[in-house]
Amino acid sequence: TFVVTESCISCKYTDCVDVCPVDAFREGPNFLAIDPDECIDCAVCVPECPVNAIFAEEDVPADQQDFIALNAELAPKWKTITRTKAALPDADKWASVAAKRAELKR
Ligand code: SF4
Ligand code: F3S
Repeated sequence: TFVVTESCISCKYTDCVDVCPVDAFREGPNFLAIDPDECIDCAVCVPECPVNAIFAEEDVPADQQDFIALNAELAPKWKTITRTKAALPDADKWASVAAKRAELKR
């Protein structure tokens, strides 16, 4: 499966969702999760993300490993998103912030 990581938090650009052939993205207040039961590992979403938040599970950076379980936990709780929409208002500000786990809203 593919995994959304910390870079997405408080940005949520949503370019990724338009290209997913199986509608695997789920939307939370300020983060997206990929449903591991839906993702078919096509990888087309990866280059769409302006903040490089999406990784194949086996390529998730060491300091982002908790996001594998987090995507699996949050995806079933959130609604499907299939169309790109406006990013969060302060997305461009948050894009340059590396440590923003504390901002995650469920
Ligand atoms: Fe969707 Fe493909 Fe990305 Fe999986 S890797 S979330 S199937 S676009
Ligand atoms: Fe998040 Fe990147 Fe998609 S910021 S919403 S993973 S395009």
